[in-house]
Amino acid sequence: FEKDTIIVVFGASGDLAKKKTFPALFGLYREGYLDRSTRIFGYARSHLEKEELKERVSPHLSKPHGAEDDAKEQEFFEMITYVAGAYDTSEGYNKLRKIIERYEADAEITEPHRLFYFALPPSVFLSVAKEIKKELYAEHGITRLIVEKPFGRDLKTARELQNNLAPLFKEDEIFRIDHYLGKELVKNLTLLRFGNTFLNAAWNKENVQSVQISFKEPFGTEGRGGYFDNIGIIRDVMQNHLLQILTLFTMERPVSFDPESIRDEKVKVLKAMSAIDPNDILIGQYGKSEDGSKPAYTDDDTVTKDSKCVTFAALCFNIQNERWDGVPIIMRAGKALNEGKVEIRLQYKAVPSGVFKDIPNNELVIRVQPDAAVYMKFNSKTPGLSNATQVTDLDLTYSSRYKNYWIPEAYEVLIREALLGDHSNFVRDDELEISWQLFTPLLEKLEADDAPKPEIYPYGSRGPKNLKSYLAKHKFNLEGSHSYTWPVSS
Ligand code: BG6
Repeated sequence: FEKDTIIVVFGASGDLAKKKTFPALFGLYREGYLDRSTRIFGYARSHLEKEELKERVSPHLSKPHGAEDDAKEQEFFEMITYVAGAYDTSEGYNKLRKIIERYEADAEITEPHRLFYFALPPSVFLSVAKEIKKELYAEHGITRLIVEKPFGRDLKTARELQNNLAPLFKEDEIFRIDHYLGKELVKNLTLLRFGNTFLNAAWNKENVQSVQISFKEPFGTEGRGGYFDNIGIIRDVMQNHLLQILTLFTMERPVSFDPESIRDEKVKVLKAMSAIDPNDILIGQYGKSEDGSKPAYTDDDTVTKDSKCVTFAALCFNIQNERWDGVPIIMRAGKALNEGKVEIRLQYKAVPSGVFKDIPNNELVIRVQPDAAVYMKFNSKTPGLSNATQVTDLDLTYSSRYKNYWIPEAYEVLIREALLGDHSNFVRDDELEISWQLFTPLLEKLEADDAPKPEIYPYGSRGPKNLKSYLAKHKFNLEGSHSYTWPVSS
């Protein structure tokens, strides 16, 4: 690893920094992926003492090795300096620059390496970027920015943001983070596909009947209603996290695994996606739980009673290329459902009729979380004298197969990649543009005055009642899928 790196976390007193950014930096330090000479600066408006920052951050640090990690925590906080300052005037940045320059001079650094992390609300995003350029840019070294969503709220605002940012920083200085790209199973997608002939050979419309990418959360917007009402589930997780999964899942093989080759392929497949049909979607909003113990979305004081905010959506993509044309690719996401789970489910076509009766479709499931796994539902003869078919599985469950591996958190992976200057798992400007092109017309329709009303589903349920028929309409064979539940309880 590199020595003497400067990392500045803007928005250091906020939620994201507390729950994700600082814990990820600590995780990297704990595991030996961040050098002791690294200097971390927290910058935010609030006047905080370092001790207060420590109190906020400390409960979120993961310390699997007990006392050994306590000592590392101590060292980690010694690497941190907190600086309070405004976002829109130069004063605070100036102060920060002096501290950084003094440190770099003492360490005799001739080529500074500075990483700026934006854990910031969009309203101050641009002023911080401008001040960094003015006050903190490493003229004779490396400057990198990690920026967090939202990257705009539609095509127009995303373009505006990009047009304002482009004159300040080069594309290779910007790392647009989508933390789903740092999850182990998402990172494994390219290898699973292109490194396994038997999977790759059947990854096409000739063999695949339907694909489902689903995101389920067991909790609602508790306490975040005011924020969420203006966003909705489509902007929150579909236009970014799930579209990233879909893109990696469907792209063609890159000529190499260098960042630009991968991102070129992602852009190509995004361009081949036909417009999302706004008349072929299912939208929902959660109501009270059936037993009345959990609140409806609109029970939140910060949202209006007649809010049409979408907390559940199912959409269908068609990719108009030789590999995928005609295969329904369903993306669905919901809050306040019966479980928390993110998975990709690929359902294969049925075997030819004739010899077998009622033999279920094969399914390949890539479970991103919880309990990372890849498994294939697989037909086999019932052992013994019987000739009846039975569904079983080929199972790669990470917790049992990879007991001794450290699987880093998504943010740990991505911050490290940004420190190394690797853009493979960050979103390029043209990817972002196309993703907004795909989603903006749909969002406009759902947010117009005459927007359709979402179907109410009970908190803790599987989602809107019409989900079943929606899946069936898009060739997902539910009956076959439900004939066997994995993992089998013994
Ligand atoms: C965030 C969304 O981007 O992703 C949240 O804003 C969501 O609403 C979260 O809960 C999900 O991330 P993870 O890693 O917990 O699956």
